[in-house]
Amino acid sequence: MTKYFLLVLLVLSACSHTPDVSTTNLKSTPASTYVSTIPSRGLDFAATIDKVAFASCMNQDAPAPLWTDILNSKPDLFLFMGDNIYGSHSSQQPIAEQYKKLDTVVEYLKVRETIPFLATWDDHDFGMRDGGADWSGKGNAKRDFLNYWGYSRNSIPVEQGGVYHAKIVGPKKKSVQVIMLDTRYYRSPLKDAPGMEGKAMDYVPQDDGAVLGDAQWEWLEAQLKRRADVRFIVSSIQLIANDPKFEKWGNFPKERQRFFDLLKKTNARNVILLSGDRHIASISKIDLKDYGPLYEVTSSSINRPNNYPDADSHYVGGTYSKENFGLAHIDWTKKTVKAEIRGINNEVVNTVEIKFRK
Ligand SMILES: [Fe+2]
Repeated sequence: MTKYFLLVLLVLSACSHTPDVSTTNLKSTPASTYVSTIPSRGLDFAATIDKVAFASCMNQDAPAPLWTDILNSKPDLFLFMGDNIYGSHSSQQPIAEQYKKLDTVVEYLKVRETIPFLATWDDHDFGMRDGGADWSGKGNAKRDFLNYWGYSRNSIPVEQGGVYHAKIVGPKKKSVQVIMLDTRYYRSPLKDAPGMEGKAMDYVPQDDGAVLGDAQWEWLEAQLKRRADVRFIVSSIQLIANDPKFEKWGNFPKERQRFFDLLKKTNARNVILLSGDRHIASISKIDLKDYGPLYEVTSSSINRPNNYPDADSHYVGGTYSKENFGLAHIDWTKKTVKAEIRGINNEVVNTVEIKFRK
Protein backbone atom coordinates (compact mmCIF):
# COMPACT_ATOMS: atom_id res chain seq x y z
CA MET A 1 0.00 0.00 0.00
CA THR A 2 2.77 2.41 0.99
CA LYS A 3 4.72 1.54 -2.16
CA TYR A 4 1.64 2.25 -4.28
CA PHE A 5 1.11 5.60 -2.54
CA LEU A 6 4.73 6.65 -3.17
CA LEU A 7 4.41 5.68 -6.83
CA VAL A 8 1.29 7.84 -7.22
CA LEU A 9 3.12 10.76 -5.60
CA LEU A 10 6.05 10.31 -7.96
CA VAL A 11 3.82 10.26 -11.06
CA LEU A 12 1.89 13.32 -9.86
CA SER A 13 5.03 15.35 -9.22
CA ALA A 14 6.44 14.41 -12.65
CA CYS A 15 3.22 15.59 -14.31
CA SER A 16 3.03 18.92 -12.52
CA HIS A 17 5.02 21.57 -14.30
CA THR A 18 6.40 24.97 -13.44
CA PRO A 19 6.06 27.82 -15.96
CA ASP A 20 8.86 28.26 -18.47
CA VAL A 21 11.45 30.85 -17.62
CA SER A 22 11.35 33.48 -20.35
CA THR A 23 11.51 37.23 -20.56
CA THR A 24 7.83 37.54 -19.78
CA ASN A 25 7.33 34.62 -17.45
CA LEU A 26 10.08 34.42 -14.88
CA LYS A 27 10.15 32.21 -11.82
CA SER A 28 9.80 34.13 -8.62
CA THR A 29 12.69 36.36 -7.75
CA PRO A 30 15.59 34.55 -6.05
CA ALA A 31 15.95 35.41 -2.40
CA SER A 32 18.01 38.54 -1.97
CA THR A 33 17.42 41.57 0.15
CA TYR A 34 18.41 45.17 -0.14
CA VAL A 35 17.25 47.60 2.48
CA SER A 36 17.82 51.11 1.18
CA THR A 37 19.62 53.42 3.59
CA ILE A 38 20.25 56.39 1.28
CA PRO A 39 19.60 59.82 2.83
CA SER A 40 16.01 60.64 2.00
CA ARG A 41 13.69 63.49 2.86
CA GLY A 42 10.62 62.47 4.84
CA LEU A 43 7.13 63.82 4.39
CA ASP A 44 6.10 66.76 6.58
CA PHE A 45 2.36 66.29 7.01
CA ALA A 46 1.86 69.90 8.14
CA ALA A 47 3.54 71.45 5.09
CA THR A 48 1.49 73.16 2.40
CA ILE A 49 1.87 71.43 -0.94
CA ASP A 50 2.01 73.81 -3.89
CA LYS A 51 3.84 71.72 -6.45
CA VAL A 52 3.75 67.96 -7.05
CA ALA A 53 6.09 66.27 -9.53
CA PHE A 54 5.45 62.78 -10.87
CA ALA A 55 7.13 60.37 -13.26
CA SER A 56 7.63 56.70 -14.11
CA CYS A 57 9.74 54.17 -16.01
CA MET A 58 13.32 54.47 -14.82
CA ASN A 59 15.98 52.18 -16.24
CA GLN A 60 18.49 51.73 -13.42
CA ASP A 61 21.18 50.71 -15.93
CA ALA A 62 21.11 53.91 -18.01
CA PRO A 63 21.93 57.59 -17.37
CA ALA A 64 18.97 59.62 -16.15
CA PRO A 65 19.69 63.36 -16.49
CA LEU A 66 15.98 64.16 -16.15
CA TRP A 67 16.35 63.86 -12.35
CA THR A 68 18.30 67.13 -12.41
CA ASP A 69 15.40 68.81 -14.20
CA ILE A 70 12.99 67.35 -11.64
CA LEU A 71 15.16 68.75 -8.84
CA ASN A 72 15.32 72.16 -10.57
CA SER A 73 11.53 72.31 -10.82
CA LYS A 74 11.51 72.46 -6.98
CA PRO A 75 8.47 70.30 -6.20
CA ASP A 76 7.20 69.85 -2.63
CA LEU A 77 6.50 66.17 -3.27
CA PHE A 78 7.45 63.55 -5.85
CA LEU A 79 5.24 60.62 -6.88
CA PHE A 80 7.05 57.64 -8.41
CA MET A 81 4.31 55.93 -10.39
CA GLY A 82 5.79 52.53 -11.22
CA ASP A 83 8.44 50.81 -13.28
CA ASN A 84 10.67 52.63 -10.82
CA ILE A 85 13.25 49.98 -11.67
CA TYR A 86 13.21 47.27 -14.33
CA GLY A 87 13.25 43.82 -12.77
CA SER A 88 11.14 41.69 -15.10
CA HIS A 89 13.78 40.29 -17.45
CA SER A 90 15.86 37.22 -16.61
CA SER A 91 18.96 39.42 -16.74
CA GLN A 92 17.42 41.75 -14.11
CA GLN A 93 17.15 39.27 -11.28
CA PRO A 94 16.98 39.52 -8.37
CA ILE A 95 14.81 42.65 -8.09
CA ALA A 96 16.60 43.75 -4.91
CA GLU A 97 19.82 44.17 -6.90
CA GLN A 98 18.06 46.57 -9.28
CA TYR A 99 16.95 48.78 -6.38
CA LYS A 100 20.56 48.74 -5.20
CA LYS A 101 21.65 50.05 -8.63
CA LEU A 102 18.99 52.77 -8.52
CA ASP A 103 20.66 53.98 -5.34
CA THR A 104 23.87 54.64 -7.27
CA VAL A 105 22.30 57.11 -9.74
CA VAL A 106 23.83 60.36 -8.50
CA GLU A 107 21.17 62.73 -9.89
CA TYR A 108 18.43 60.60 -8.34
CA LEU A 109 20.16 60.57 -4.95
CA LYS A 110 20.10 64.37 -4.89
CA VAL A 111 16.35 64.37 -5.50
CA ARG A 112 15.76 61.78 -2.75
CA GLU A 113 17.74 63.92 -0.30
CA THR A 114 15.75 67.03 -1.12
CA ILE A 115 12.17 65.99 -1.93
CA PRO A 116 9.83 63.58 -0.14
CA PHE A 117 8.76 60.59 -2.26
CA LEU A 118 5.68 58.39 -2.39
CA ALA A 119 5.77 55.34 -4.64
CA THR A 120 3.74 52.56 -6.13
CA TRP A 121 4.75 49.90 -8.59
CA ASP A 122 3.96 48.81 -12.13
CA ASP A 123 4.74 45.56 -13.92
CA HIS A 124 8.52 45.86 -14.13
CA ASP A 125 9.10 46.51 -10.41
CA PHE A 126 6.38 43.91 -9.75
CA GLY A 127 8.74 41.50 -11.52
CA MET A 128 6.71 40.34 -14.53
CA ARG A 129 6.08 42.22 -17.73
CA ASP A 130 2.34 43.03 -17.88
CA GLY A 131 1.99 40.75 -14.84
CA GLY A 132 -0.96 40.45 -12.50
CA ALA A 133 -2.45 38.34 -9.71
CA ASP A 134 -1.16 35.10 -11.19
CA TRP A 135 2.50 36.14 -10.93
CA SER A 136 4.13 33.68 -8.55
CA GLY A 137 6.86 36.16 -7.61
CA LYS A 138 4.51 38.84 -6.30
CA GLY A 139 5.18 38.09 -2.63
CA ASN A 140 8.93 38.47 -3.08
CA ALA A 141 8.44 41.61 -5.18
CA LYS A 142 6.36 43.07 -2.36
CA ARG A 143 9.09 42.23 0.14
CA ASP A 144 11.60 44.04 -2.10
CA PHE A 145 9.28 47.05 -2.48
CA LEU A 146 8.82 47.35 1.29
CA ASN A 147 12.55 46.94 1.89
CA TYR A 148 13.31 49.70 -0.58
CA TRP A 149 10.53 52.21 0.19
CA GLY A 150 11.16 52.45 3.93
CA TYR A 151 8.18 54.72 4.65
CA SER A 152 5.82 52.15 3.14
CA ARG A 153 6.55 49.65 5.92
CA ASN A 154 4.59 51.92 8.26
CA SER A 155 1.93 52.71 5.67
CA ILE A 156 0.90 49.29 4.40
CA PRO A 157 -0.62 46.86 6.93
CA VAL A 158 1.30 43.56 7.14
CA GLU A 159 -1.81 41.52 6.36
CA GLN A 160 -2.64 43.59 3.24
CA GLY A 161 -2.10 42.12 -0.23
CA GLY A 162 -0.48 44.57 -2.62
CA VAL A 163 1.18 47.92 -1.97
CA TYR A 164 -1.72 50.40 -2.14
CA HIS A 165 -1.67 53.21 0.40
CA ALA A 166 -2.69 56.86 0.81
CA LYS A 167 -1.60 60.02 2.60
CA ILE A 168 -3.18 63.37 3.36
CA VAL A 169 -0.73 66.26 3.62
CA GLY A 170 -1.18 69.93 4.43
CA PRO A 171 -3.20 72.22 6.67
CA LYS A 172 -6.98 72.61 6.74
CA LYS A 173 -8.41 73.98 3.47
CA LYS A 174 -5.12 73.19 1.74
CA SER A 175 -5.03 69.45 2.20
CA VAL A 176 -3.71 67.22 -0.57
CA GLN A 177 -4.59 63.55 -0.64
CA VAL A 178 -2.37 61.16 -2.57
CA ILE A 179 -3.85 57.75 -3.30
CA MET A 180 -1.36 55.20 -4.60
CA LEU A 181 -3.24 52.36 -6.23
CA ASP A 182 -1.90 48.87 -6.87
CA THR A 183 -3.01 47.77 -10.35
CA ARG A 184 -0.93 44.56 -10.26
CA TYR A 185 -1.40 42.39 -7.21
CA TYR A 186 -5.07 41.52 -7.82
CA ARG A 187 -5.35 42.11 -11.54
CA SER A 188 -6.88 39.25 -13.52
CA PRO A 189 -5.00 37.73 -16.47
CA LEU A 190 -5.16 39.81 -19.65
CA LYS A 191 -6.64 38.52 -22.88
CA ASP A 192 -4.23 38.68 -25.81
CA ALA A 193 -5.40 40.22 -29.06
CA PRO A 194 -5.68 37.66 -31.89
CA GLY A 195 -2.24 36.91 -33.30
CA MET A 196 -0.49 38.43 -30.25
CA GLU A 197 -0.73 35.40 -27.98
CA GLY A 198 2.13 35.20 -25.50
CA LYS A 199 3.72 38.44 -26.70
CA ALA A 200 2.65 40.57 -23.68
CA MET A 201 1.80 43.40 -26.04
CA ASP A 202 -1.73 43.97 -27.36
CA TYR A 203 -4.87 43.06 -25.48
CA VAL A 204 -8.61 42.96 -25.96
CA PRO A 205 -11.25 43.97 -23.40
CA GLN A 206 -13.01 41.27 -21.44
CA ASP A 207 -16.32 41.27 -19.61
CA ASP A 208 -15.14 40.05 -16.25
CA GLY A 209 -12.01 40.30 -14.20
CA ALA A 210 -10.42 42.56 -11.61
CA VAL A 211 -8.07 45.50 -11.69
CA LEU A 212 -8.11 46.41 -7.99
CA GLY A 213 -9.76 43.47 -6.21
CA ASP A 214 -12.53 43.73 -3.59
CA ALA A 215 -10.37 44.72 -0.62
CA GLN A 216 -8.72 47.56 -2.52
CA TRP A 217 -12.08 48.80 -3.85
CA GLU A 218 -13.45 48.93 -0.31
CA TRP A 219 -10.35 50.75 0.87
CA LEU A 220 -10.52 53.21 -2.05
CA GLU A 221 -14.12 54.10 -1.24
CA ALA A 222 -13.14 54.81 2.36
CA GLN A 223 -10.24 56.98 1.15
CA LEU A 224 -12.48 58.99 -1.17
CA LYS A 225 -14.82 59.71 1.73
CA ARG A 226 -12.01 61.28 3.75
CA ARG A 227 -11.82 65.04 3.78
CA ALA A 228 -9.31 66.52 1.32
CA ASP A 229 -9.20 69.62 -0.86
CA VAL A 230 -7.26 68.17 -3.81
CA ARG A 231 -6.80 64.47 -4.58
CA PHE A 232 -4.17 62.89 -6.78
CA ILE A 233 -4.99 59.28 -7.60
CA VAL A 234 -2.03 57.39 -9.04
CA SER A 235 -2.79 54.39 -11.23
CA SER A 236 0.31 52.97 -12.86
CA ILE A 237 -1.69 52.14 -16.02
CA GLN A 238 -3.89 54.55 -17.97
CA LEU A 239 -7.51 54.79 -16.94
CA ILE A 240 -9.25 57.34 -19.19
CA ALA A 241 -7.42 56.62 -22.46
CA ASN A 242 -9.20 53.69 -24.03
CA ASP A 243 -8.04 53.34 -27.63
CA PRO A 244 -4.43 52.08 -27.30
CA LYS A 245 -4.29 48.29 -27.33
CA PHE A 246 -1.72 48.08 -24.54
CA GLU A 247 -2.38 47.69 -20.84
CA LYS A 248 -5.18 49.95 -19.57
CA TRP A 249 -8.21 49.88 -17.30
CA GLY A 250 -10.22 49.64 -20.51
CA ASN A 251 -9.17 45.98 -20.80
CA PHE A 252 -11.69 45.54 -17.97
CA PRO A 253 -14.47 47.96 -18.98
CA LYS A 254 -16.64 47.15 -15.94
CA GLU A 255 -13.77 48.02 -13.59
CA ARG A 256 -13.17 51.30 -15.45
CA GLN A 257 -16.86 52.17 -15.15
CA ARG A 258 -16.83 51.13 -11.49
CA PHE A 259 -14.08 53.69 -10.87
CA PHE A 260 -16.11 56.48 -12.48
CA ASP A 261 -19.22 55.38 -10.56
CA LEU A 262 -17.27 55.45 -7.29
CA LEU A 263 -16.21 59.05 -7.90
CA LYS A 264 -19.87 59.95 -8.39
CA LYS A 265 -21.04 57.91 -5.40
CA THR A 266 -18.50 59.45 -3.02
CA ASN A 267 -18.78 62.88 -4.68
CA ALA A 268 -15.00 63.11 -4.45
CA ARG A 269 -14.06 66.55 -5.70
CA ASN A 270 -10.92 67.89 -7.33
CA VAL A 271 -9.64 64.47 -8.34
CA ILE A 272 -6.74 64.38 -10.77
CA LEU A 273 -5.63 61.03 -12.13
CA LEU A 274 -1.94 60.38 -12.71
CA SER A 275 -0.47 57.45 -14.61
CA GLY A 276 2.73 56.19 -16.23
CA ASP A 277 3.76 52.95 -17.95
CA ARG A 278 3.24 53.99 -21.56
CA HIS A 279 6.57 55.60 -22.55
CA ILE A 280 4.60 58.57 -23.73
CA ALA A 281 3.15 61.59 -21.95
CA SER A 282 -0.41 62.74 -22.49
CA ILE A 283 -3.27 64.65 -20.92
CA SER A 284 -6.69 63.00 -21.13
CA LYS A 285 -10.14 64.36 -20.35
CA ILE A 286 -13.51 62.69 -19.95
CA ASP A 287 -16.84 64.31 -19.11
CA LEU A 288 -18.70 62.11 -16.66
CA LYS A 289 -22.45 62.43 -16.43
CA ASP A 290 -23.55 63.69 -13.01
CA TYR A 291 -19.94 64.35 -12.03
CA GLY A 292 -18.24 66.67 -14.51
CA PRO A 293 -14.87 66.72 -16.24
CA LEU A 294 -12.13 64.38 -15.05
CA TYR A 295 -8.50 64.72 -16.15
CA GLU A 296 -5.63 62.26 -16.26
CA VAL A 297 -2.00 63.20 -16.77
CA THR A 298 0.22 60.39 -18.01
CA SER A 299 3.96 60.83 -17.63
CA SER A 300 6.41 58.20 -18.90
CA SER A 301 9.37 57.80 -19.17
CA ILE A 302 12.30 59.14 -17.14
CA ASN A 303 14.93 57.55 -19.40
CA ARG A 304 13.28 55.05 -21.74
CA PRO A 305 11.93 57.23 -24.55
CA ASN A 306 9.98 55.62 -27.34
CA ASN A 307 8.89 56.50 -30.82
CA TYR A 308 5.64 54.77 -31.55
CA PRO A 309 2.68 56.94 -32.47
CA ASP A 310 -0.14 57.06 -29.96
CA ALA A 311 -3.63 58.46 -30.24
CA ASP A 312 -6.77 58.45 -28.15
CA SER A 313 -10.06 60.31 -28.47
CA HIS A 314 -9.66 61.56 -24.88
CA TYR A 315 -6.26 63.19 -25.39
CA VAL A 316 -6.07 66.95 -25.03
CA GLY A 317 -3.10 68.20 -27.03
CA GLY A 318 -0.48 65.93 -28.52
CA THR A 319 1.51 63.14 -26.96
CA TYR A 320 5.21 63.41 -26.13
CA SER A 321 7.53 60.43 -26.31
CA LYS A 322 10.89 61.80 -25.18
CA GLU A 323 12.03 61.83 -21.53
CA ASN A 324 9.46 63.64 -19.39
CA PHE A 325 7.94 64.22 -15.98
CA GLY A 326 4.74 65.84 -14.81
CA LEU A 327 4.38 68.89 -12.60
CA ALA A 328 1.12 69.98 -10.98
CA HIS A 329 0.98 73.53 -9.57
CA ILE A 330 -1.77 74.07 -7.05
CA ASP A 331 -2.91 77.69 -6.78
CA TRP A 332 -4.75 77.78 -3.47
CA THR A 333 -5.92 81.37 -4.07
CA LYS A 334 -7.19 80.98 -7.62
CA LYS A 335 -8.35 77.45 -6.76
CA THR A 336 -6.81 75.82 -9.79
CA VAL A 337 -4.36 73.06 -10.57
CA LYS A 338 -2.15 73.68 -13.58
CA ALA A 339 -0.69 70.39 -14.74
CA GLU A 340 2.26 70.34 -17.08
CA ILE A 341 4.29 67.76 -18.96
CA ARG A 342 7.92 68.78 -18.89
CA GLY A 343 10.84 67.46 -20.91
CA ILE A 344 14.59 67.87 -20.62
CA ASN A 345 15.62 71.36 -19.44
CA ASN A 346 12.13 71.79 -17.97
CA GLU A 347 10.66 72.54 -21.39
CA VAL A 348 6.87 72.58 -21.01
CA VAL A 349 5.39 70.43 -23.79
CA ASN A 350 1.74 70.17 -22.77
CA THR A 351 -0.37 71.83 -20.12
CA VAL A 352 -3.90 72.01 -18.76
CA GLU A 353 -5.54 74.21 -16.14
CA ILE A 354 -8.12 72.49 -13.98
CA LYS A 355 -10.51 74.52 -11.85
CA PHE A 356 -11.56 73.32 -8.39
CA ARG A 357 -15.16 72.18 -8.33
CA LYS A 358 -17.56 74.17 -6.18
FE1 LIG B 1 4.66 49.22 -17.18
